[in-house]
Amino acid sequence: MTDNSILLIPASQFTIDQLVAIYNQTRVDYMVPMPMNAARLEEYIRTYDVDLDHSLVATHHGDMLGVAMLGLRADRAWITRLGVIPDTRRRGTGLALMNGLLKQAENLKISFSMLEVIKNNVPAQQLFLKLGFYEVGELLVLRRSPTVPPPDPIVADARRLQRAEALDLVGRYRGTQPWTNQSESLFNAQDVSGLRLTLADGSEGWLVYQRQKFTLTRFAYKTETGDPVTMAWAFLSHLHHHFLRLVTQLENIQVIDPHLPAFYQMGYIESFRRIEMWRGSVPGTLRLSSQG
Ligand SMILES: CC(C)(COP(=O)(O)OP(=O)(O)OC[C@H]1O[C@@H](n2cnc3c(N)ncnc32)[C@H](O)[C@@H]1OP(=O)(O)O)[C@@H](O)C(=O)NCCC(=O)NCCS
Repeated sequence: MTDNSILLIPASQFTIDQLVAIYNQTRVDYMVPMPMNAARLEEYIRTYDVDLDHSLVATHHGDMLGVAMLGLRADRAWITRLGVIPDTRRRGTGLALMNGLLKQAENLKISFSMLEVIKNNVPAQQLFLKLGFYEVGELLVLRRSPTVPPPDPIVADARRLQRAEALDLVGRYRGTQPWTNQSESLFNAQDVSGLRLTLADGSEGWLVYQRQKFTLTRFAYKTETGDPVTMAWAFLSHLHHHFLRLVTQLENIQVIDPHLPAFYQMGYIESFRRIEMWRGSVPGTLRLSSQG
């Protein structure tokens, strides 16, 4: 099989069940098991603005070899769900899929792309470096079990934020975030609300989160005044006191996040790390569009 014999077909020409099947086949030997089902893939596509018309399935004589999806937001693209079936790897399919996605983005006049890759996933990282992606930082996937008792809530003026108010805060500038944690991901998510806190020493800040049936997730937060660790300890103590039975699952928290020590003190545990990679120069709109 040569690169020329690989056919790239828009993912929108396949059913969700076919896309789930090919994705799961490419991940049977993955470092961190992340099997998908149709409902989860549909939610993923909606939350992360994945565009199936510009995503690709690689085939060879009618057999599906691999898949790669493209997320599209203003001036930026996101590469995700890339995978090639294990026994067909190292024959150029991954490279063909990646080149195909970059071409799709280029046709839409988007020259800035983002992705995340699990740390020590050498094949994928080598592929991305080869295509001109560069490392911009390390991201943490964190988990907190409800079996860890939360401390008593810190004394504070605590106000619950309904969805509209919470999303208004999220839309303000929080620094350049990985795709999963950008404002758009929260705008697209259900059951989002928040908490605004003012502490006795005048510190102020807020936390916005998504409450799923058994899980708290998708945190966005900001310390407006005061020390980030104190503020995070305060909002986490309030949150976990309120939701005693829920697991917390957080994706892609930057290792340089100054709030992090409070998460560890509150019983959060690192599940694994990712490397964030970019290609092209950061568009001004990514920094400015969500400035509050
Ligand atoms: C990463 C992945 C998609 C690569 O697919 P592939 O079809 O094997 O890749 P290609 O044959 O097109 O290889 C292209 C380049 O990738 C790099 N690469 C691929 N496999 C590699 C390996 N095992 N070790 C080192 N580099 C590797 C090389 O730079 C290679 O170029 P070369 O063949 O000229 O050396 C495939 O390994 C895979 O599906 N892995 C599991 C899922 C995954 O990790 N997805 C990425 C998540 S971010």
